[in-house]
Amino acid sequence: MVFVMETDFIKNLRGQATDTIPIWLMRQAGRYLPEYRELRAQAGDFLSLCYNPVMASEVTLQPLRRFDLDAAIIFSDILVVPHALGQKVWFVAGEGPKLSPIKSNSDLPKFNQDKFLEFLSPVFKALEITRSTLSQDKSLIGFAGAPWTLACYMINGQGSRDYQNVRLHARQNPLDFQRLLDLLVEAISCYLIQKITSGANAVQIFDSWAGVLSCEEFESYSIQPTAKIIANVKQAYPDIPIIGFPRGVGFNYPNYIKNTGIDAVSCDQGVPLAHMKHFQSDVCVQGNLDNLLLLKGGQEMVDQALTICQEVSDKPFIFNIGHGVIKETNPVDVALLVNTVKNFRKEK
Ligand code: CP3
Repeated sequence: MVFVMETDFIKNLRGQATDTIPIWLMRQAGRYLPEYRELRAQAGDFLSLCYNPVMASEVTLQPLRRFDLDAAIIFSDILVVPHALGQKVWFVAGEGPKLSPIKSNSDLPKFNQDKFLEFLSPVFKALEITRSTLSQDKSLIGFAGAPWTLACYMINGQGSRDYQNVRLHARQNPLDFQRLLDLLVEAISCYLIQKITSGANAVQIFDSWAGVLSCEEFESYSIQPTAKIIANVKQAYPDIPIIGFPRGVGFNYPNYIKNTGIDAVSCDQGVPLAHMKHFQSDVCVQGNLDNLLLLKGGQEMVDQALTICQEVSDKPFIFNIGHGVIKETNPVDVALLVNTVKNFRKEK
């Protein structure tokens, strides 16, 4: 069963501005919420929480019970995809994700779509439960990491500041690296399609580490694979909007918009509002309050949120932050931000 709802969130993604501004926040579910920390402690480790459909659905809904958000994002992690492809993945408290690093595509078992989807079935179940619980005026977002960002973790085995060794590896082994990107395109496409089948009303592709790439690498490792994923997903579900988040790519945002076929682009806090306005002639924009201002909270945050609303809300726009909610953020400031945006009245 596919749900295609005309919420204000979906309307903006389809290119139609609405009277009120839709809002959701990257990492809106997570450690800044005491109710998340409580459930997380019950679940044991982080991946057990991701693979428990009832708990993952509950965590997804937690922020919507507190705040008047327009969309829920299914609780999971981008690294369940390498995990389902046969790589070892685990999370170390205080250190973040760890993976048994691969040297090449051939270090992974041969791709088997049925096994891959079976492994991820708890995620699809979580989407089904969430969509059936969520009210019709709220949208449900599915997501995946982009091939480049997943390859960073898969090859490096953990986070890094600049992924220099991954870039060098790709330069030294171009054919092999291309095979890995192709595998990820195939896996991510069928993952996103199955998420939509399970109830997602829109999907977002996180390319969190696109900002470390040169222009040329960005074209081959981010734009081209993302364009293929979009073509695949659109073939199955032409009406489901796709949001892209090529974090930190600066002057390359327009190339990404023009050459991927994306419906909406999420902008980090480094993108000037004048540029976001410019992008709006081609796509819906999402963003871009500094997550540090949300952490600081209070009037400075409210003022910047209002400036963003004034500057970009006359065209298709979804309010968000430039990157995920920081774990020390006070939920009181999240409520203040959401109310500020929901009460904003556009000038006619
Ligand atoms: O936005 C949401 O509310 C949905 C949940 C979500 C999580 N991860 C939960 C999570 C989403 C959309 C992600 C995506 C994700 N995961 C990205 C792309 C977005 C971005 O932030 O750039 C990346 C790069 C990852 C990989 C990852 N997962 C890292 C680097 C970490 C450690 C970060 C940290 O702050 O410790 C995670 C773990 C993780 N994913 C947590 C949550 C709530 C914290 C784990 C915990 O509860 O201990």
